[in-house]
Formats: sequence, structure tokens, C-alpha cells
Amino acid sequence: MIDNVGKDLKFPEGFLWGTATSAHQVEGNNHNDWAEWEKSERRINYLKSKGLNPENYISGIACDHYNHYEEDFDLAKAMNNNAHRFSIEWSRIEPEEGKFNRAEIEHYRKVICALKGRGIEPFVTLWHWTMPVWFVKKGGFEKRENIKYFIRFCERMAKEFSSEVKFWIVLNEPMVYAGMSYFRGDFPPQKKSFFASLWVVNNLARAHNLVFKVIHDIDKKAMVGITASANYFQGWMAPAMSWVWIFRFYNKIKNHQDFIGLNYYYRRLVKGFYFDIGENSRSDMNWEIYPKGIYYVLKNLSRYKKPLYIIENGLADAQDKYRAKFVIDHLKWIHKAISEGIDVRGYFHWSLLDNFEWAYGFWPRFGLVEIDYSAKGGSASGGKTLERKPRPSSWIYAEIAKANAIGKRL
Ligand code: BGC
Repeated sequence: MIDNVGKDLKFPEGFLWGTATSAHQVEGNNHNDWAEWEKSERRINYLKSKGLNPENYISGIACDHYNHYEEDFDLAKAMNNNAHRFSIEWSRIEPEEGKFNRAEIEHYRKVICALKGRGIEPFVTLWHWTMPVWFVKKGGFEKRENIKYFIRFCERMAKEFSSEVKFWIVLNEPMVYAGMSYFRGDFPPQKKSFFASLWVVNNLARAHNLVFKVIHDIDKKAMVGITASANYFQGWMAPAMSWVWIFRFYNKIKNHQDFIGLNYYYRRLVKGFYFDIGENSRSDMNWEIYPKGIYYVLKNLSRYKKPLYIIENGLADAQDKYRAKFVIDHLKWIHKAISEGIDVRGYFHWSLLDNFEWAYGFWPRFGLVEIDYSAKGGSASGGKTLERKPRPSSWIYAEIAKANAIGKRL
């Protein structure tokens, strides 16, 4: 526990305070590989066999952020945020191979302007797991020859938006994707092949390195990176696990990143050849709350000598029982890392809104802002009210962002 009795813990001037989302999880009405999978017979049968209602596992209209982004950014502004991370949905921009949709490009231009107009710096993710159906039909990132399609999309986005966007997150958690989609087979396309997962990792790294160059050719001053899952491993196998899970990928792209993005959620105790969970409180998803882990992870990642941004950190907590303390405690450890000279420049809480939590559906509630998914609304909202209600923890986050400090009362 870090003690700040009697003093404010100040963050560096210009520190970025934000929240993060991803298109498929909030926008609604996406038509991509995930949307197809959610409705596939295999998936529906699986859910039914577990006694689960498939309705809760179909993203559908999600929280309709596509139409509510202005209102949602007002809420981010009310939290005194000066940055926001979101993703551009490739399947909207290029629904058919080579056919770019002008109206959707203009939609994202409005989204970016809505942020900038509120003094909020956009951090744009180009790939947060979902892809156009045509691209996946060609074999997605399992095939090296498909990388060119992703590059073409990224190049187009950089050309369209480089005057407004400085920060580009090319990939979100490539190792989680390769692991869940190609090794464990839990996410689409549900493959279970060690070798396929290796190809995917290599192809994603290669794609990133090429996109890095493409964006810099368009804008020399752009800040380009990825964000990786960087949980804290503890135990005798921890160095090996950290290498496989975290450093191996960053090493593959080490000459092609202007910053290090990281997503920190929990600690994994590595016991022999299995994982365990520590003794502390747990989120609704049974993830251990272990704030000190972020400090170790930051120290470890400082080896790359690049600015660090915490691109995701948060918890599923429908009752908002732990969230405020979670934010404060993680920020205290981040502050300690900064006070020891580690160049951390921003913190993005996951998430702004209760969203669609992938294969786990709608029940995990990650939002600083609660979404009312109960069925009272009209047909435009899929029969749901989708009312936004900031949770009490969001007021604490607002207070910290406003002061650019963890005040002594906290
Ligand atoms: C992903 C998010 C996800 C969050 C919580 C990260 O792995 O980038 O999309 O919602 O963790 O599970």
C-alpha cells in the first residue's frame, strides 16, 4: 500500500487522462467476422448447451455508441479527460475488398472532430481484433500474403486523418488474439493449432512493422505503437512466461515503435505448470485486484527506453464496489514508477462504457459509465433503454484528472 497521507501525488504536466473503448464492443451494428461468429450455429449450440441465453452473447446494437458518441464524449469531458482511445472498424471502412465507404470515413472524421472539439486527444486503434468478412475468408492474418490488405487500409486511414490524429495504436493485444483465436480456440475462428498461432503472431508483427513505416511516410511526427497485454507474472516460471507473453512480441517490433502501449489487468501466480490467483479481492470476472503489479510491469517495460502509455486498466464491477479504490491504488503505483524516473505519459481506464465483453457477452460491466441494458426502449435501440449513468467511481476519476494528482484526501 502506498501512503500519501498529507500530500498530493502530482503527475507530470501534460499527463494524459483518458478512457478506452473498441468499435465492436460499443458501436453496434457491425458486420464483421465476430458478428458472424456470434450468430453461427456452432456458437449458439454451444451457448445453449451451457444453459446460456444466446441473446446476451450477440453484440447487436451494443450500447449504440455509433449514434451516441457526442453524448458519450460529453461524459468523458465531464470526467476532465484530455485523451480518449477508440478503434476504427475496418469492416465499416472497407466492407468489400477494395471498396472504401466514404460515408463511414466521414463518420470517423466526425468522431475525431467531436473529440478534438472537446480538447480530447484521440488515440486511434487500427485493429482491435475484428476484421471484414472478406479478409477472414482469405485466411486473415494466418496468411502472410494477406498483410497487404491491412496495410492498404491503414495507409488510407493515415492519409485521411493524419492532420487530426497523432497517436496510432496499430494492434491491440496480438498475443491474446493469437492465443484465444488460434491456440485455445475460444474466439473466432476457433482454431486450436500451436503452429497457426505462431504464424499469426509473426504476421501481425510483420504487419505492424510495415504499417509503422507507411504511417511515418505520411506523417513524420506521428506517434505509432501497439498495445499489448502486460499482466504481472509471479513465481519461478515468471521470467519465461513474461518473455513468451510480453517481451517476445515487443522485441519483434522494437525498432518500429514510438511508444510502448500496455494493458494491465491482474497478476498471474505461476505455480509449476499452471496458473493460480492470489488472495486479494476479485472482480466480477474473478480477476485478482493487484495494483502493485502495474509498478513491476512498468519497471520491466522501461527497458525499451520509450514513453509508456497505459492503454487499458480496469475491472468488471457491476456494483462499483471496488472501482474507485482500484483506480486510486493503481495510480499510486504508477505515480511511484514515475517518481523513480519511468517515463509514463498517460493512463486510459477500460472502459468509458459498459460494453460487449467478447465471448463473455454483456454481463461483465467494465464502465465508469453504466449502461442500462434493460428492455424498455423503442425499436431503434433494439428495445433497450441504453441510458447512460456515470457511476460514483467516475467522480473520483474526474477529481484526479482535474487536479492532475491523487489528492491527499484520497
Ligand atoms: C481487450 C478489451 C477487453 C478487456 C477486458 C482487453 O483484453 O483489449 O477488448 O474488453 O481486455 O477483458
